[in-house]
Amino acid sequence: AFKPLVFSGVQPTGNLHLGNYLGAIRRFVMLQDSHDCMYCVVDLHALTIAPDPVELMKATREVTAAFLAAGIDAKKHIVFNQSRVMQHAELAWVFNCVARMGWLNRMTQFKEKAGKDRENASAGLFVYPSLMAADILVYRATHVPVGDDQKQHLELTRDIAQKFNNDYSNRIADLGVGVEMMSGEEKVNGFFPLTEPLIEGPAPRVMSLRDGLKKMSKSDPSDLSRINLTDDAETISKKIRKAKTDPEGLPSEADGLKGRPEAENLVVLYAALAETSKDQVLAEFGGQQFSAFKPALADLAVAKLAPIATEMRRISADTAYIDSVLKDGGERAGKLAETTMKTVREIIGL
Ligand code: ADP
Ligand code: NA
Repeated sequence: AFKPLVFSGVQPTGNLHLGNYLGAIRRFVMLQDSHDCMYCVVDLHALTIAPDPVELMKATREVTAAFLAAGIDAKKHIVFNQSRVMQHAELAWVFNCVARMGWLNRMTQFKEKAGKDRENASAGLFVYPSLMAADILVYRATHVPVGDDQKQHLELTRDIAQKFNNDYSNRIADLGVGVEMMSGEEKVNGFFPLTEPLIEGPAPRVMSLRDGLKKMSKSDPSDLSRINLTDDAETISKKIRKAKTDPEGLPSEADGLKGRPEAENLVVLYAALAETSKDQVLAEFGGQQFSAFKPALADLAVAKLAPIATEMRRISADTAYIDSVLKDGGERAGKLAETTMKTVREIIGL
């Protein structure tokens, strides 16, 4: 069997926010007690939208600082940035030749990100899913803690692994480099695992503080829409005070949140930060007005986030330290990736 290994990546695009923390980074922290983990700042992915070079370097360090400040142990696990391990790009090319145009054409994220002007989107944006598959499979990672928005990418990763295993099955058998695994109903000898989503640990979807129907996002032009991980206590409190709600108070049961996305979002946030359930929060605050609930939520958010922000600022001031973490992680990741690529080159005849 494949050795269990968790891989996940976050793009260095700046403005890390509470959604990134509760939906991704905090889960990364939780998984490290039970799994071997690789956490990657995917700077090659960021190139698909041509960021300013100086901003890109800054954002790579910001995400790394957030990983470390949130409590990821870079000694026990591996924290690195993608471009340090060139095998990601090498395997992505191989996968571009495995993936079919039709598969990539169906990816909803490309359609969303390219918008109406598809002719002008970078080719990189189109083949992004091949690189993502390579990120995961260059370590033969078995598990990925993804949010709903990444499910389609993970399915494509499995399709690529399966087609590779299938296309090269004779060669994999001749070289004796396969691992016995199930591929659908069939028992096969595959080189790449069919990576599974990891559903362990809560991953709430955090909505904008200004519009309960929109995801909290770094690309939202309104700074009041999101709580940035670098916000200080006063800013966090202000944003929660100004968060959109409705005239009703808090219901005592979850049913009473139906059709009230802004109200629901604040309850979801409280539950996520307190590591409890929505029902539990409503049992405590049901019947109260938002004027009473918001200060409690602000206190909780400050208690949970301000220490991370302080630690992020401390770590960010020491770029030499951040770079040394990335260098060390990159060297360790590079060894693992090269072990895989040596065999891949043999399998495909390079
Ligand atoms: P953004 O959506 O702001 O562009 P990314 O796409 O870089 O952020 O997301 C990085 C990680 O954070 C992903 O795992 C994604 O699922 C998670 N994430 C992003 N926004 C949210 C959100 N509003 N709620 C929950 N998780 C989120
Ligand atoms: Na996203």
